[in-house]
Amino acid sequence: MNAEIGIIGGTGVYDQSAFENIKEISVDTPFGKPSSEIILGEFEGKKVAFLPRHGKGHVFSPTNVPYRANIYAMKKLGVHTILSIAAVGSLKEEIEPLDIVVPDQIYDRTKHRISTFFEDIVVHIGFANPFCKRTSRLICETARKLNFKVHEGGTYVCIEGPQFSTKAESQVYRALGFDIIGMTALPEAKLAREAEICYATIATVTDYDVWKESEVDVATVLEYMAKNEEKVKTLLREIIPKIEGDDSCECRNSLRYAITTSPDKINE
Ligand code: ADE
Repeated sequence: MNAEIGIIGGTGVYDQSAFENIKEISVDTPFGKPSSEIILGEFEGKKVAFLPRHGKGHVFSPTNVPYRANIYAMKKLGVHTILSIAAVGSLKEEIEPLDIVVPDQIYDRTKHRISTFFEDIVVHIGFANPFCKRTSRLICETARKLNFKVHEGGTYVCIEGPQFSTKAESQVYRALGFDIIGMTALPEAKLAREAEICYATIATVTDYDVWKESEVDVATVLEYMAKNEEKVKTLLREIIPKIEGDDSCECRNSLRYAITTSPDKINE
């Protein structure tokens, strides 16, 4: 086993100074190469794999991130838990820029992404609770201990991007009660569940989306992303030693209860 914990996020959250035995490896998968080489390192006895979601130099748009290769590579390395770090917009007044949100639901508004590993057979897994409850709870408890403002739960609406939303869309999402908006939680969360990997998101708020702002100001988003990086690094240092793989977690047994058919079976 090369790694137990996977971290998918921006390069800024990779804290080289905190890790030992660092090496960069190239991983091949049946779905091509992941977004970039993967950095392996150890922190307080835990083996961690870092992957910048958008590649080195932010070369993949949210649509073109090789999500299947990324999750497959994590599985191949032996990862049991993925922490996803994601910048999001806020759809609620009380969720302020620089807050942390640990969502418990997702609403899918993506359009051009392959969201399953299973192409030759049909596999229906349960996805009612898209995030790992155990890992999400741990993130919230740890963030609160650090006195970070954290919102436990909330619905993440995942849009296709790369454009931000129109005002009409943003207002509809608010009317539907959604909390935060981003472009990358899907299909990542679905693929992690198919791969039986626990998956939780640390969403860092960068803006109020266009229901409140005249436009999403990209310069401010980048400025707030940089500000959030230090916070995320501190949070990761506290969380990583506490993460334990749990074979009995629902996320780790998704295929046991899946409904599966294959062309062979249908022709029998
Ligand atoms: N990522 C950061 N802010 C966002 C927003 N307002 N909409 C979609 N994705 C985002």
